[in-house]
Amino acid sequence: MAADADLEDLPGVGPATAEKLTDNGFESFQSLAVASPGELSNTADVGESTAADIVSAAREAADIGGFETGSAVLERRERIGKLSWMVDEVDELLGGGVETQSITEVYGEFGSGKSQVTHQLSINVQLPKEHGGLHGSAIFVDSEDTFRPERIDDMVRGLPEEAQKAMLEEREIEGSIDDDETMDALVDSFLEYIHVAKAFNSNHQMLLAEKALELAGDSQDDEYPVRLLCIDSLTAHFRAEYVGRGELADRQQKLNKHLHDLDKVGNLHNTAVVVTNQVASNPDSFFGDPTQPIGGNILGHKSTFRMYLRKSKGDKRIVRLVDAPNLADGEAVMRIEGGGLKPE
Ligand code: GTP
Ligand code: MG
Repeated sequence: MAADADLEDLPGVGPATAEKLTDNGFESFQSLAVASPGELSNTADVGESTAADIVSAAREAADIGGFETGSAVLERRERIGKLSWMVDEVDELLGGGVETQSITEVYGEFGSGKSQVTHQLSINVQLPKEHGGLHGSAIFVDSEDTFRPERIDDMVRGLPEEAQKAMLEEREIEGSIDDDETMDALVDSFLEYIHVAKAFNSNHQMLLAEKALELAGDSQDDEYPVRLLCIDSLTAHFRAEYVGRGELADRQQKLNKHLHDLDKVGNLHNTAVVVTNQVASNPDSFFGDPTQPIGGNILGHKSTFRMYLRKSKGDKRIVRLVDAPNLADGEAVMRIEGGGLKPE
């Protein structure tokens, strides 16, 4: 569905309402189709019943019904892509890799490697399927100022030679992988397909999720459609801004809305959503159990895959899969090297 859909075609939407909707991130029939009438009524300043009419008309226009046939569900499930970590043991744990159409939460204490994982996946997603990728591009929402092009540089140089060669050919970059200039050009081409945005606070982060929906939608006919959305970190701003006990409910409500938006990107545009989350390292913290990710139950329900990273000796990391649907819990070992995530 085109993002520049004419919203004024919808019942009860004049120029002023169309503008309010657009300003609030509802720029396509699809985004309206999956909005709740209450949410719409609040943001666009229209009555609840008008909002309900808008939503149902948008659903028809976007061809998103309340029900779909089993075969439609099957067809959508068949499109689920698996994005490799490039670490066999971890991929096996995940049944092939990080899935599109799902949210994967990677949690662990500081230095456990969460940001390294998001960097590596932003590279891997661009690779051809036979090399573990999804032939796609990445969106990286950076809330902790952790995105480092230098790490992308190191990790591209650390890719298996076969994957590097395949990418040189695919991107029509002349030269060989032993040639510095050729590798510089290859690194640049990878950076080109990672869309990075810094989130300055939680509201800005939420807005970026809505922008990501739009960007992902617009990219679907591109050579490298968006297939990965990373939020590193999902919770840092929320944790810093909503500090008092009295604000807990408010924080959870905001986080829930945010996750709902992220879920939309995953489901509407066949994208893998990977969010990072720190565990509270201070046991006195009111966030509770130091081995539990921040965000509590709400995050628990939304993130369909949860992966717990633990530091081990030196560059070794233990990756544990927790409570995944249809997959056995288990652990794998990997290393974080200069060239990226590597098998033990
Ligand atoms: P927080 O964001 O602080 O919660 O941590 P994190 O879980 O995101 O950790 P991060 O991904 O930043 O991992 C940091 C670890 O990755 C370091 O302790 C190093 O072990 C490793 N690392 C990061 N950069 C490099 C690098 O350039 N070379 C090597 N060899 N290892 C690196
Ligand atoms: Mg980090």
